[in-house]
Amino acid sequence: MLVWEEEFKPSQSLNALNAASEPSAPRAAASASANAAFTADANTPAPTISTVLAPASNAATVAPVQRRVNAADKRIINGQTDVNQLVPFKYKWAWEKYLATCANHWMPQEVNMSRDIALWKDPNGLSEDERRIIKRNLGFFVTADSLAANNIVLGTYRHITAPECRQFLLRQAFEEAIHTHAYQYIVESLGLDESEIFNAYNEVKSIRDKDEFLIPFIGAIMDPHFNTGTPENDQTLLKSLIVFACLMEGLFFYVGFTQILAMGRQNKMTGAAEQYQYILRDESMHCNFGIDLINQLKAENPHLWTAAFKAEIKALFLQAVELEYRYAEDTMPRGVLGLNASMFKGYLRYIANRRATQIGLEELFPNEENPFPWMSEMIDLKKERNFFETRVIEYQSGGALSWD
Ligand SMILES: [Fe+2]
Ligand SMILES: [Fe+2]
Repeated sequence: MLVWEEEFKPSQSLNALNAASEPSAPRAAASASANAAFTADANTPAPTISTVLAPASNAATVAPVQRRVNAADKRIINGQTDVNQLVPFKYKWAWEKYLATCANHWMPQEVNMSRDIALWKDPNGLSEDERRIIKRNLGFFVTADSLAANNIVLGTYRHITAPECRQFLLRQAFEEAIHTHAYQYIVESLGLDESEIFNAYNEVKSIRDKDEFLIPFIGAIMDPHFNTGTPENDQTLLKSLIVFACLMEGLFFYVGFTQILAMGRQNKMTGAAEQYQYILRDESMHCNFGIDLINQLKAENPHLWTAAFKAEIKALFLQAVELEYRYAEDTMPRGVLGLNASMFKGYLRYIANRRATQIGLEELFPNEENPFPWMSEMIDLKKERNFFETRVIEYQSGGALSWD
């Protein structure tokens, strides 16, 4: 336990940073062997803070010269500048998005769920089809955002060498934790069967199929032996970024968001709908950041964007649209809330077109119209009046805390 009066020891602090969850003994052994390797060869440079904390691909190649960072030298991947130095900025869009996400901070407990609880407990409050939508929705999302957080923390983060982008990813990871918290809070508020909801990703085929599509792309970059630095591996990372931003956050979330927000528009489950609205705002930012990251990575590495690679990405888009459409059919076997599954076919094609063109691919389904223009208004929340007026808990941000 930390005692605040204790003298601050920087070396202990850095060890704590590097310790992760490894037990101390193997770590000490690894450290000893690294030291032995160092002393065995007098020409091997000693590890520095910048080489220790840089991605493995760079640790092997970065000369441990302590020189000041030049912004022009920064790179999204395979960079050789010190990842600990946030400034000088090169990727100002990433920093601005980081600031915008911080300005949108919210917590699930701030949303009043009492009307939802009353409606859920009223035997005549919701139809069976509406209850199915809510349970399927939560069944997907309670684990999806944990998957998203793990992908960032254990996968993407290590491979990105732009500190501005790492800063955004840290904030994004926390927001994914808030989203998991929000879904858990809805499950708990409504008194749903937790084991049914949290196991849906194993037990409900339409949900499991979406997760099984995603997992290989997350697993590839989480592999501790995976490093960028070859065209093939850089393409693997780029593919994972595209799947995650454009197909997971940018497509797989949208049937569920639309269904719950449609419910809110009919004055049903308004607390859950408000939570989803905050989450949609966050996810829009994540998706846009991911697309900026992909486009910057492409601009710096145009050799990765081959015809074969584009064809592979296009096939993944088509597969994702099909999986999300099957999820729509499973969650709404009949028309409900003025929606039906076939309307989502058009919507998913419309979104897929948008994601494809955002990363420089041609439209996959030319001339699709948006059947839910009200969703675009939901996403553009700047238009919302008094968006925060329903917050029920007085909230202090870190800067305003008083220790008295
Ligand atoms: Fe999320
Ligand atoms: Fe996200």
